[in-house]
Amino acid sequence: MDYWREKSREMVDHFLMNSKADEKYLLSPLANTVDAFLGRKLTHEELVEEAMGYMFAGSGTTSSTLTYLLYAISRPENMHIQARLRDEVSNISTAATAGTEDDIVAVRKNPYINAVIKEVFRVYPTIISTLPRVLTEPMVIDKYKLPAGTVVGMQNWIHHRDPTVFPDPDKFIPERWLASTEAMDASLTPFSIGKRNCIGQNLAWQELYWAIICIMRAGLETKVGPEMKDNDMQQEDRFNTAPRGKRLMLEVVRVTP
Ligand code: HEM
Repeated sequence: MDYWREKSREMVDHFLMNSKADEKYLLSPLANTVDAFLGRKLTHEELVEEAMGYMFAGSGTTSSTLTYLLYAISRPENMHIQARLRDEVSNISTAATAGTEDDIVAVRKNPYINAVIKEVFRVYPTIISTLPRVLTEPMVIDKYKLPAGTVVGMQNWIHHRDPTVFPDPDKFIPERWLASTEAMDASLTPFSIGKRNCIGQNLAWQELYWAIICIMRAGLETKVGPEMKDNDMQQEDRFNTAPRGKRLMLEVVRVTP
């Protein structure tokens, strides 16, 4: 905790010393503008707290999602998914845009790559804890009348596995997203919904796209290693989930030059 705080302070100080007010960094709006809720600029200590928050919110979440993505496509029954992913990426990189800034745009538009990421979000949502909200007015849910002030919350683990929306809910089937229904789209909530949903979701998507491009473009094939035990990849809920076995061991071979 002390190390995390100290490094965040160093980064905030570096940012304040080296950036101009009109430069666009993640911290710029916080450092340079009046906070609408507080009616004043943030203090130095509050900026450090915010930097710590970004670091926590933005690192374990994305890395856990990437870990489960690699796990899902490296399971023996899913090798066809990995092969298709490699094909899709290599088709993009042999296209006219290869190696240019437009590359990422082509990847972002690729239905299959998006389908794989969405299926990872669905089956292995990294934030599965209840996200508490306080009712500001009464609400009726089914036969229950909840008064204002009640703490309510949802767990995406539950609705991501609703069999009426996602048939065979425990199975990892990216193809289901190639013809998604309105109910499916509405039920996928890895970043939560409403006013306090994830402000880093576009960055998270972008990082996952880049990771997939790099791994697939390197022509690597990954398989779950023999040392992995059945429950090693069980999601342990530490608010941000992580594999119970604390590691993902993969065998990696190069399959294309
Ligand atoms: C796969 C990656 C990610 C997932 C699954 C994820 C998920 C979430 C969820 C579910 C929430 C809502 C928490 C709540 O309701 O209490 C949230 C909030 C937040 N996320 Fe993310 N996140 C990811 C990546 C990121 C990244 C890359 C950043 C920034 C660098 C980030 C910054 C934040 C912040 C600052 C909040 C709090 C927003 C607020 O309270 O208004 N997240 N995230």
